[in-house]
Amino acid sequence: MNELERIKELTKILDNANYEYYVLANPTLTDQEFDKYLRELESLEARHSEYDNPNSPTKRVGGMVIEKFQKIKHQIPMLSLPDVFSEEEIIAFDKRIRDAGITPEYVCELKIDGVSVSLRYENGIFKSGATRGDGITGEDISHNVRTIRSVPMHLKEDVSIEVRGEIYMPKESLIKANLEREKEGLPLLQNCRNAAAGSIRQLDSKVAAKRNLDTWIYHLPNPLDYNIDKHYDALKYMEKLGLKVNPANRIVKNIDEILAFIHEYGEKRNSLPYDIDGVVIKLNDLHMQEKLGYTSKYPKWAIAYKFPAEEVLTKLTDIIFTVGRTGRITPNAVLEPVIIMGSTVKRATLHNEEYILEKGLKIGDTVSIRKAGDVIPEVVGPKIERRTGEEQEFKMISTCPICGTVLQKKEGQVDHYCPNESCPARHTETLIHFASRHAMNIDGLGEQIMQDLFNLGFVKKIPDIYLLKNHKEDLIELEGYGSKSVDNLLIAIENSKENSLERLLFGLGIGGIGDKTALLLARKYKTLEELSTKTKEELETIKDIGPILAYNIVAYFNDPNNKEIINKLMEYGINQTYKGEELKNNELISGRRFVVTGTISFMGRDEIERIIDSYGGHASSSVSAKTNVVIVGDNPGSKATKAKDLGIEIWDEEKLYSIFNDLGEI
Ligand code: IVH
Repeated sequence: MNELERIKELTKILDNANYEYYVLANPTLTDQEFDKYLRELESLEARHSEYDNPNSPTKRVGGMVIEKFQKIKHQIPMLSLPDVFSEEEIIAFDKRIRDAGITPEYVCELKIDGVSVSLRYENGIFKSGATRGDGITGEDISHNVRTIRSVPMHLKEDVSIEVRGEIYMPKESLIKANLEREKEGLPLLQNCRNAAAGSIRQLDSKVAAKRNLDTWIYHLPNPLDYNIDKHYDALKYMEKLGLKVNPANRIVKNIDEILAFIHEYGEKRNSLPYDIDGVVIKLNDLHMQEKLGYTSKYPKWAIAYKFPAEEVLTKLTDIIFTVGRTGRITPNAVLEPVIIMGSTVKRATLHNEEYILEKGLKIGDTVSIRKAGDVIPEVVGPKIERRTGEEQEFKMISTCPICGTVLQKKEGQVDHYCPNESCPARHTETLIHFASRHAMNIDGLGEQIMQDLFNLGFVKKIPDIYLLKNHKEDLIELEGYGSKSVDNLLIAIENSKENSLERLLFGLGIGGIGDKTALLLARKYKTLEELSTKTKEELETIKDIGPILAYNIVAYFNDPNNKEIINKLMEYGINQTYKGEELKNNELISGRRFVVTGTISFMGRDEIERIIDSYGGHASSSVSAKTNVVIVGDNPGSKATKAKDLGIEIWDEEKLYSIFNDLGEI
């Protein structure tokens, strides 16, 4: 056998070993044998660069670095699914199908919480992997897909085919990756889905390779080309080709069987090694699928049932205290790490002493956790029946955990405060607040990165944020921040220089000045300099500004440290004047011309026009060919008729109400 033949043979052996290990979970080679073959292949490939094969098993460890993502146009759009949340909606879906004259059989599948991917094979050989993108065009992530061991580089038949599925990060991989990252002081990966999405969008495939990503394949876009007329047969066919297809997929015949599947996996969900967020229900007959067709976004033959928020049990191992920007002390639950709705939860706020006492929490308790609003972890309460007697009573601290100053608690209030203005804990909180959404709104400068930048010494005080551009190379070095995200961050920082005064004023964090008061002051005094010259008495004359707020403002501007901050911000070109309110944006209103005619029952015409104005729309009184929308109320005049004649879009009262309501204007 010559060396080329041996390369081919080894490739086959190793590909098959990957298949057995990662797809079938049934290895037949030992790790030592696998390594021995892999090393032999590596050394042969090193001698024969002429046989370079991007799909070689030696490339699974990554190492390919691309400059930028190429676009891949999907031959068939990659659609998503309509979400439903109740049994009634499933019944309605079934009814809609029966009303179309179809006696349905369905396939129930797990809804994998990852990132969808489209894989292309030519003559059985892996060609490319693409993200969904906007559904029409995705990004070429082939270099990263090659590192996912369950994606075969050779199919078991020499077919040319496109298949779709989900790339996901197993729960175990997330926990392992985060243990590592914690040790290295890197920001933690938030949840399995984000981690998978972040990993496949890396230019360097070594990162994806390290993350142990996996796949489930669940969709064949062109089944009729392969003479397949049932979705379940398409799943079986893809499985036969060597792709990883979920064994949970099940044919069901009626609503009861759908509900039983949902119930079964609702129970099993926490013990699955990967995250699911629901169950997908698909019509099995592919000809009937075609008959039902698609809306612009969704197929009409499938729905995604989403599970309700889950509660899980874990152990409260400790309660620790953090100090906020204003010196407020927050007790936090330290929990044995659990994955809940896709993210690892290790901490949860316990708000204040009273909250803990009310819930009767003891350290060592088994507690139940849920995600409030699906995002913030919340301790629901202790499981008293699980107590062993080893639990310890909670005791509130009396001194600041950072600077040791004796804490204060004001009459009638629940929070404890550290009164030390120079407590170091306040610094990062101040920085985080400055960059936050309602303040300077610097995208990408969240809590974790700010903490990192502070710890690295890049940002100690607010003005240092505007010098970060001098640390560009250092930032790129930090794993997780990549060159594109650093570029975006620096752009966001530069853009924030142009913010109107109220954002800066709110961002400076003067005690008691919220975003509304900041706007009030910015409107009244127009510049930071003008505000800084006001006396307490002058400020107190403003409605809504009481003596404490007035005192805080004057004290702030008299403090030499704050004067230095403001001078530096001025020196670095940060705008300190009021620019008028920012225009809001909405595609239905912004840049369009409106005429209001007739009476709208829920709002006066002036108010409607003011709202249109605030979104950058134009309200005028006469209808012309330039008018985009005519809002027609009760007893409209000839304007409504003219609008109809000209074929202009008309919004009735109901439509206007629903748009304004969606925008939060009502
Ligand atoms: S089928 C045309 N099946 O959920 C139908 N999607 O909310 C294509 N997903 O974009 C999708 N598990 O990323 C399908 N078993 C499954 C799925 C699944 C997860 C994702 C997929 C899709 C999203 C829709």
